[in-house]
Amino acid sequence: MKLQHVIESQQFTVPLLMELFDRTRRMEKIVARGGTQDYEHKVMATLFYKSSTRTRFSFESAMYRLGGRVLSTENGKEFSSEIKGESLEDTIRIIANYSDVIVLRHTEEGAAKRAALISPVPIINAGEGNGGQHPTQALLDLYTIYNECKTINGLSVALIGALDNGRTVRSLTYLLSKFDRIKFYFIAPPEMQVKPDILAYLDKYRVHYELAADPEKIISQVDVVYQTRIDRERLKRSDIDLSAYNIDASVLKKMKSNAIIMHPLPRSVEIDQTIDDDPRAVYFRQSRNGLFVRMALLTILFDKE
Ligand code: CP
Repeated sequence: MKLQHVIESQQFTVPLLMELFDRTRRMEKIVARGGTQDYEHKVMATLFYKSSTRTRFSFESAMYRLGGRVLSTENGKEFSSEIKGESLEDTIRIIANYSDVIVLRHTEEGAAKRAALISPVPIINAGEGNGGQHPTQALLDLYTIYNECKTINGLSVALIGALDNGRTVRSLTYLLSKFDRIKFYFIAPPEMQVKPDILAYLDKYRVHYELAADPEKIISQVDVVYQTRIDRERLKRSDIDLSAYNIDASVLKKMKSNAIIMHPLPRSVEIDQTIDDDPRAVYFRQSRNGLFVRMALLTILFDKE
């Protein structure tokens, strides 16, 4: 199946996702054996205009474990020629001369699409804007759900946090809605609820969803709790008690015994560290899956050539 660039979750079909997950399982075994040299002639450029720990490090580790090499700037705003007025398009044209794939994190929504329009090498959107997409995070999230729950069809998923600007929530919603009988529960303070474009997409594909401000009633019903940060400074009212959205031992008691708690990380106060050792807390396994999924994704892009 052809995959030229990775810009948004809607590009992925269920067969392509299953191919990615088959490859991801192979990558887990390859990493356990110490990696491979199969892609030793490949060079990956990571061009990040915004901060990142997981995405950049896991992509770079993925390339090294495939035997390839990495060119990197972790602060494109300061250390690329943007500071001298160079356009994103020209920067991409230049970096494409030196690399076989470009992983781009950018401040502006639509930057990855602009880059892909002129790039002769694959562009991977590593997260863009506020309220844009982060498709590779959604791929590793979906793989984690598949691995932990042994299925995707029929799951009930609660997405909690600042959902309007949540890149990972947006991208994951698009991916999950490709599967059968998914039920979404979007739980957020009213001013941070998921945006109408996502709801229109779910309506179009007749996917079940409910909007709620209070996690209390829903948490006991769902198979997956996908927690994200809430930035207090964006709340219109300062008296809203955000602790209602936090997950701690008392919330855990109400959850199904086989439900899972996910978080794209980094976390702040919204997941209490005292629950980290509960087997349902999968967020550190989820971030490790980022390595394997990104290795698999790179091989799909390289192998099509
Ligand atoms: N989840 C995620 O994208 O983390 P980073 O911002 O650290 O890459």
